[in-house]
Amino acid sequence: MGRKDFLKTLGLSAITLYAGNIVLTSCNNNDIVPLGLSLGDIGNPLRIPKTLNAIGQIIATNGKDDFGSSQMVPVMGYDGGLLGPTIRAKKGEEVQISFRNELNENTNIHWHGLVIPPEMDGHPTHTIKPKGEFNFKFKVNQQAGMNWYHPHLHESTGRQVTQGLSGMFIIESDEEKGLSLPSADYEIPLVIQDKRFSSDGTIKYSPEMQDTMDGYLGDQILVNGTLKPYVDVATRFYRFRVLNGSSARVYNLALSDGSDYYVIGSDNGLLPVPQKVNSLLLGSGERVDLLIDFSMFPVGMDLFLMSQTFNNMGKAQGNNAFNILKFTVTTEEIDSFKLPQTLIPMTRIAGSSKTRNFELKMKMLSFKGMHRINNKVFDMNRIDETVNLGATEIWEFDNSSGDEPHPMHIHAVQFQVITRSGGRGVIMPHETGWKDTVLVAPGEKVQVIIKFEQKGTFVFHCHNLEHEDDGMMLNFQVV
Ligand code: C2O
Ligand code: CU
Ligand code: CU
Repeated sequence: MGRKDFLKTLGLSAITLYAGNIVLTSCNNNDIVPLGLSLGDIGNPLRIPKTLNAIGQIIATNGKDDFGSSQMVPVMGYDGGLLGPTIRAKKGEEVQISFRNELNENTNIHWHGLVIPPEMDGHPTHTIKPKGEFNFKFKVNQQAGMNWYHPHLHESTGRQVTQGLSGMFIIESDEEKGLSLPSADYEIPLVIQDKRFSSDGTIKYSPEMQDTMDGYLGDQILVNGTLKPYVDVATRFYRFRVLNGSSARVYNLALSDGSDYYVIGSDNGLLPVPQKVNSLLLGSGERVDLLIDFSMFPVGMDLFLMSQTFNNMGKAQGNNAFNILKFTVTTEEIDSFKLPQTLIPMTRIAGSSKTRNFELKMKMLSFKGMHRINNKVFDMNRIDETVNLGATEIWEFDNSSGDEPHPMHIHAVQFQVITRSGGRGVIMPHETGWKDTVLVAPGEKVQVIIKFEQKGTFVFHCHNLEHEDDGMMLNFQVV
């Protein structure tokens, strides 16, 4: 492609050429404001994905969905429509999922948050062809928490996830049951995603230069695949397991009246103690487990789970205020649940033998490969880091010279966040438990401590899926 055509495909409002380098002077996507539900809207009842046990089948298909409201349109799905079933497995249980690819293209599955052998992890080299099958079989050896699954083919992850392929993976344990947290109708999973739609109602995914830079932001918010969702609640505690399943958008979760709520869990499980907050920032791929006490509100009241604007995030992906989910308090109920003082104890990882530094930096030279880690672009056959099995290490993600946040995710481990310097300067309340993804804001250096307990080759990457597909990903091998 000649330079002229190349520039045309960039579709930017302002481009300056300096000695052959392209300098982007306008690449801020924050004018895409999502349309949340407003107070007068009735909306659509929140859909809850069906549950699948540890032994079952998942089929990736070209399905159909109406997003709980409009007309049926083609989507990709693991269960016919948008999003797959929620898999529930017990700690110690063996999971056996037979997977079939009924799409017209390659795909695979990554079990985000699970520490499992490399041949089960969905490395980008693992492709399952159209009509192909694969039997996933692995033992769940980790604590109770909400993990998730989605495709992980290099350069197709953003598109396949946005088109509908992802699902939740909940691990349960007796230890967790002992806490008697709100369950059944009072335990609600929330997969938050933003999407763009074409005029024919189909999900649009066509990132241009600007979207690759900032992430592909949507102007509609879906929860569990529902557009303009609402849920009726009673005057009692509810547990919400929240996943940011968007490709890039960062949410600052709050209640619309500013009330406090409690964080009881992070990516991979429950926190040692509940943390009271009135907002928290959730990057792509991150999860939080929340308790909201609706007994503070009168019957008849409407309020929203919303995303507030935020600071210290540079050109953050999606810094707007909008509503996500409407709660209507409909029934009076006596609640015997008391917020526990402590949850699940967590032993601090200590005794690191090595610190690795990863510089997160842009290079604005070409169309592909702008987002880099230590100035490298992903090569699925190159091993970038070698780690000894059983080693404890500190990994530092350095975004001090960056101007956008990167939610950094590491496969096949669970880590603890130990320091954040620059930017926000502190570890956030929802980061005080087990994590696999950490939001690294502009100006920040974040250190996590990891014990490597799974042999094999895995990736770590930015979970802004446009950045990931652009090559912001490296391989590490545990030997
Ligand atoms: Cu959810 Cu490698 O990612
Ligand atoms: Cu993962
Ligand atoms: Cu990134």
